[in-house]
Amino acid sequence: MSNDDEEMVVTPWTVSGKIDYSRLVEEFGTQPLTEDMLERIKKHTGELHLQLRRGLFFSHRDLDWILDMYEAGRRFVLYTGRGPSGPVHIGHLVPWIFTKHLQDVFGSKLYFQMTDDEKFLIHPEFTLDTSKGFAYDNALDVIATGFDPKKTKIIMDVEDSGTLYRIAVQVAKRITFSTVKATFGFTESSNIGIIFFPAIQAVPCFLETELTGENVPCLIPAAIDQDPYWRVTRDVAPKLGYFKPAQIHCKFLPGLGKGGKMSASIPETCVFTTDPPEVAEKKIWNAFTGGKPTVEEQRKLGGDPYICPIYYYEYYLFEEDDGKLKEICERCRSGELLCGEHKMMLAEKVKKFLVEHQKKREKAKDVLDEFLFKNR
Ligand code: TRP
Repeated sequence: MSNDDEEMVVTPWTVSGKIDYSRLVEEFGTQPLTEDMLERIKKHTGELHLQLRRGLFFSHRDLDWILDMYEAGRRFVLYTGRGPSGPVHIGHLVPWIFTKHLQDVFGSKLYFQMTDDEKFLIHPEFTLDTSKGFAYDNALDVIATGFDPKKTKIIMDVEDSGTLYRIAVQVAKRITFSTVKATFGFTESSNIGIIFFPAIQAVPCFLETELTGENVPCLIPAAIDQDPYWRVTRDVAPKLGYFKPAQIHCKFLPGLGKGGKMSASIPETCVFTTDPPEVAEKKIWNAFTGGKPTVEEQRKLGGDPYICPIYYYEYYLFEEDDGKLKEICERCRSGELLCGEHKMMLAEKVKKFLVEHQKKREKAKDVLDEFLFKNR
C-alpha cells in the first residue's frame, strides 16, 4: 500500500509516496499553468473548467503555442489514452472528462489510444486476450464520458498495428536504447517489447499529420506520470518533420485510503465505474477521513479537509459549485460537519453519478463500432 512517508516515485508504471507536484514540474522540466495562462484559456472556454479552476491540471508544455496556432486559425488534434490493465475507476475519468471539455470547446478531433500491447508486455501473467478484453471493456467508459462519435477514434494498438507500425519504426529508428534506459529505467532484463513500446505510444501524436498530409499540432491531456513518453517523442518529432506534441498535465486522484493515489490494485480504495451503487457507498463509508477519533474532539477541534479523501472527491469531481464547496470546507473545519454525515452526502452524489454513467455505458455497446479507428 502507498504510504506518505515513502520516497516519491512517479514513472509510467509506478506512482507512490507523497507526491510533490512542484518538484515534478522542476524535475520533468515542464511549465507551471500560471494565472496568465489560465486567463488566456478562459478567453476560449468562458468560465474555467473545474479541473483548471481547482488546479487539478497544473502543468503544461507548449500550451501557449497551441493557443497561438489556434488563434491564428489552425486546428489541432487531441490525444489521450489508457493502459487497459483492469476495470476503470473514477480516478481514470478525470483527464477524460477534461479532454471531452476541450473537444467541446475547440471542436478538436480526438485520438484515444488503448495500449493493450503495453499492458500485455508489462504484466507477466497477462495474455493478449486479457488486455484486449480490458481494452474493449474500458472503451465503453471512454464512450460514456461523452466524446463526439464523429470526432473521436479509439485506437486498439494490436488490432491497429498495421497503421501504427509504419510510423513507429520511423520513430524507433531515432531513439537509442541508452535514451529509453535513462528515461524509463529499463534494464538488461527488460523484455525487448517494452523497450520498443515508447515508439508506439508516440505514434498517435503524428497520426493526423500522416493520414491527412497536413501538418497538424497535437495536444495531450494526461496525468503527469506519462511525461517520460512525451519527452522522447518531442525529441524525435522535428527529426521526422512533425510538430512537437504539446501537453497539459493533471495530478492523480487520491484513493479512499490514507495517502496514495486511487489504484485498481487496492480495490477497497477505489470506486470502479461498474461498482453497484451500494458497493461504492460501502467503500466510501469505510474510507479514511481527516476527522478526529471522537465526536467530542471533532466538535471541539474540527476536521482536516486537506488530508481527507472525502473532501478531495468533492473538490476534484463531485461539487461543481465553488460556493457550496467552500461551505463544506468551513463546516468541516469548524467541527459542525461530522465525517459520517459528510460520507453520506458524498455517497449520494457518487451513487447518482454511477447510475448515470452505467446507463451511458450500456448504450455505448451499440455505438462502439463507430468509435473504433480500425486501421483507417
Ligand atoms: N501508457 C498509458 C497508460 O498506461 C496509456 C496511454 C497511451 C496514454 N497513450 C496515452 C495515456 C496518451 C495518456 C495519454 O495508462
